[in-house]
Amino acid sequence: CVHEVVVVGSCNTDFISYAPHLPKEGETLTGTKFETGCGGKGANQCVAAGKLGAKTAMITKVGDDIFGKQFLESFKVNNVNRDHVGVVKGVSTGVAAISVADNGANCIIIVPGANNLLSTDDIVAAEETIKSAKILVCQNEISSDVTLAALKLAKKHNVKCIFNPAPAQAGMQSDFFTTPDIFCVNETEAEIMAGLTVNSVESANSASKILMKSKNCQSVIITLGSNGCVYQAKVDDEPVHIPTEKVDAVDTTGAGDSFIGSLAFYICRFPHLPMTEMLRRSNQIASLSVTKRGTQISFPTQAELPIDLMK
Ligand code: RIB
Ligand code: NA
Repeated sequence: CVHEVVVVGSCNTDFISYAPHLPKEGETLTGTKFETGCGGKGANQCVAAGKLGAKTAMITKVGDDIFGKQFLESFKVNNVNRDHVGVVKGVSTGVAAISVADNGANCIIIVPGANNLLSTDDIVAAEETIKSAKILVCQNEISSDVTLAALKLAKKHNVKCIFNPAPAQAGMQSDFFTTPDIFCVNETEAEIMAGLTVNSVESANSASKILMKSKNCQSVIITLGSNGCVYQAKVDDEPVHIPTEKVDAVDTTGAGDSFIGSLAFYICRFPHLPMTEMLRRSNQIASLSVTKRGTQISFPTQAELPIDLMK
């Protein structure tokens, strides 16, 4: 296997303002701190796996601005192959304006820029890379036809797929549910896709069953923040709750990405582990990421992890 984890997805430069609470409509707030960093759900998930030691590759587009350069550099130092990182002239790299409150909650506005220029031709050009992968990971921050082309190409070559439809889009066509091996959503996304309020383990179980029965997902993970996640392996199985330890959250931005990147890492490197154990460990790594500010910069490296997470 040339690459273990291949991600087809977004790069956004994160502009993060920290403030006592999230702004209300019309409110001007004075923040306490400002930081920039490499983010975007695609790049975050790829770098999360790379920092744990997986051989990864990113299929993406950035602009020919300073931010695009920062992504190329960040991929280099984080174990991410850049052969399919396109740099588009005259276009800006994707950006994300992020507000983070003292309690760790966040809200995000993204402007896709170069991310919107990733095309199905780019997927065709990356066929060998996708074919060589152990696992392909996609999100919802690039054109949906490109994501679907990537998922289909992976399946053509029997490559396992994780799809994280974030941010949620209502009315996704059925292939997005049925093609991926693992369909992974958070509470809000589950709510939009299953059509019921998800705010507890019980309601996540119900949403999972709907996604499996009515949407024909192959397996479902619903992440529940400090409540861990719920996992359903088969349509006739009961969903299983995998709790996690509570931590003092300073910044929850990108925690879901840390979780998915970790899961992809475990599937490649520790395939003999039961899925529930992979999820327990991924929960734990995501919890570590929320104790630090920022997205990619807050994801732990293999060396920073408790030793029992690596055996
Ligand atoms: O999931 C967190 C990410 O969402 C941020 O890094 C931001 O860029 C947005 O894409
Ligand atoms: Na963080």
